[in-house]
Amino acid sequence: MNIAIIGSGYVGLVTGACFAHLGHRVVCVDNNPRKIASLRKGVSPIYEPGLEEMIRENTRLKRLYFTADIARAVEESKVLFICVNTPPKENGEADLSYVENVSREIAANLKEYRLIVEKSTVPVQTGEWIEKTIRENQTRKALFDVASNPEFLREGSAVHDFLNPDRVVLGVSTRKAEKILREIYEPLKAKLVVTGLKSAEIIKHASNSFLATKISFINAVSRICEAAGADVEQVAYGMGLDPRIGPSFLKAGIGFGGFCFPKDLMAFHRMAEKLGVHFPLLKDVLQINEEQKSYFIQKIEKAIWNLRDKRLGVLGLSFKGDTDDIRFSPAIDIVKVLHAEGAAIRAYDPEAMPGTKAVLTGITYCKNPYEAARGAEALLILSDWDVFRQLDYARIKKLMKHPVLFDGRNLLKPSAMHKLGFRYHGIGCLPPS
Ligand code: NAD
Ligand code: UGA
Repeated sequence: MNIAIIGSGYVGLVTGACFAHLGHRVVCVDNNPRKIASLRKGVSPIYEPGLEEMIRENTRLKRLYFTADIARAVEESKVLFICVNTPPKENGEADLSYVENVSREIAANLKEYRLIVEKSTVPVQTGEWIEKTIRENQTRKALFDVASNPEFLREGSAVHDFLNPDRVVLGVSTRKAEKILREIYEPLKAKLVVTGLKSAEIIKHASNSFLATKISFINAVSRICEAAGADVEQVAYGMGLDPRIGPSFLKAGIGFGGFCFPKDLMAFHRMAEKLGVHFPLLKDVLQINEEQKSYFIQKIEKAIWNLRDKRLGVLGLSFKGDTDDIRFSPAIDIVKVLHAEGAAIRAYDPEAMPGTKAVLTGITYCKNPYEAARGAEALLILSDWDVFRQLDYARIKKLMKHPVLFDGRNLLKPSAMHKLGFRYHGIGCLPPS
């Protein structure tokens, strides 16, 4: 199948490369010329394990190419996946102007039947708007269908998630659209869930909101554990064995971040309001998430008193491990507050430092984790990079001024850290005596 991906960011690139890997002929479009230039050289503009290799291999096989020319992509491809960004507006609503722009550009270039698929995460009823926009801006009479195919991949394991989905949701309104999408996904042998367009749109927002709810729930429970002298890791394990609850997304930490959970929760809440549905739970989930970051900062202040002129080492800036993405990163929010309070921050992240440098100045960026720990009065773990588990903590202790560790991701074993002589503060467990 000839496929065009419009918007070559985290989702578009992974989708494009994986479709090519499955044997389709794919053109990835982006209106950022620097991205296209980099991709043509086989260099991925984002860090995502396995992606660059897949891009190079499929470019070599002539199944994948990159362009800024949307007209050509519409002309050559039967199916057009919209993968542009849908950022939040001030009021929390999704900004759908990028989706509208692409719809207009598709309309201007439509000459024969095309299936237009929304893969961007959008509020319910967006499909109807896309259809109306294309119809009103079409310069030639050509048939088309609009479908919804929400994406559930996680950054950091995006290629694996795309190729091994729990389910593929196909929101369609015609047999023809369903047939085409079935054919595209056939090589994956995945569980297909065929629904109406609006139901597919809601499946995506409801799924992200539900997962975020689980995280805020366990984060609130972690505070109860701390107050009562229990251990949230044990509580989460005991809860998660019940298959009705499940073990995943019960990891307490410094709150969720990323380009998706915060914005999708806000957008879902706004959509519920617009539809006249009272859904305060979603606001509570967001509020608990905000509080979780302040709570972590208070914990640091309780243990080391004033922040002014204290040297703090920071491990991790991305919104979670295995990604360079810093959008809505709780790590960055926390560092910004500590920095504003006068702390001298020495930070290290395996992939997120170039992006962070553009938005956060006045802190020291270090070459490795040991440099970040040197002379520190406390060390903070803020993203769950696996490499942070493997560090030589005996060496780190020697480098630090005071061996105080705040593990915002419960990445390390408290008993092992105590044994090494650290004053270890995890999430949802008793502070060191
Ligand atoms: P992104 O910002 O990384 O990528 C969007 C790309 O679209 C950018 O490269 C931008 O230059 C391009 N673009 C914007 N307008 C364009 C236009 N008119 N023509 C061509 N290109 C255009 O965003 P992302 O993280 O890939 O997210 C895209 C959508 O997918 C969002 O709705 C998001 O919620 C959803 N989503 C993201 C993830 C994720 O893990 N990041 C997972 C599932 C769903
Ligand atoms: C999330 C969803 O998991 C994907 O299914 C979805 O496709 C994507 O959003 C999206 O719509 O964009 P992602 O944001 O890449 O994926 O990352 P997650 O692994 O879900 O983590 C999100 C945030 O929650 C991170 O800050 C992470 O550290 C935090 N988290 C996650 C916890 O604090 N505890 C957990 O148990 C799990």
